[in-house]
Amino acid sequence: MNTLIAGNWKTNLLADSAQALAQAVRDHCNQTNVCVIPPALYAGKVAELLATSDVALGLQDISDQGMGATTGDICAQQAVDVGAKYVLVGHSERRVRQFETSDLVARKALAAASAGLVPIVCVGESLDDREAGRHEQVVGEQLAPVIQALGTVMDCVVAYEPVWAIGTGKTASAEQAQAMHAVIRRMLVDAGKGQTKILYGGSVNAANAAELAACPDVNGALVGGAALTIESFAVIVKAFT
Ligand code: G3H
Repeated sequence: MNTLIAGNWKTNLLADSAQALAQAVRDHCNQTNVCVIPPALYAGKVAELLATSDVALGLQDISDQGMGATTGDICAQQAVDVGAKYVLVGHSERRVRQFETSDLVARKALAAASAGLVPIVCVGESLDDREAGRHEQVVGEQLAPVIQALGTVMDCVVAYEPVWAIGTGKTASAEQAQAMHAVIRRMLVDAGKGQTKILYGGSVNAANAAELAACPDVNGALVGGAALTIESFAVIVKAFT
């Protein structure tokens, strides 16, 4: 299946509810193109619950450093050890709140890919950038260092998430999403990575998933709020499968 539907649980849920949701995803969306991304503290338990399923595990962030003296970080080897396949890098909530630069994001993507993880590289413009017509330039500048760091060999997924659409209920229209995905696709083709999956993220829900899934360059979704209930997540998974 050349799609990926990733549920990013962000800093939501506690141990019991995280386990219950993991079980529900396992029971209702047991497919190789589905990934859940729980808070790191619960990743071990979620990995156990998913062990006999096709659902993949992801983490929400990774250090650009290896094992060693980086208090509070999680390194790529530890992510592999807990059973993760994917890791988000450069989510806009980290770019904004933790001041992550695109160069740091590229180093994180490289650390992840070098350890055998698939980085899900998040890019997306702010509302100001969109209104000023800079959105393609901004996204291009975010993606370029990652493409350079990974070269043609290392695998990755790109997630386009316009910041103004995240958690706002304001989704990009299918036309806006497709237009940006086409720009990203051109960059990836030029870099010899044309087969890379490009996910859309930003208020994806059960009602708008089918329209987004119909866009030729939208290969899946990175889902936040609607991934927290199995009812909506299962509908989104079906729309993209
Ligand atoms: O990682 C997920 C995205 O930030 C989208 O979040 O679906 O709640 O808008 P959202």
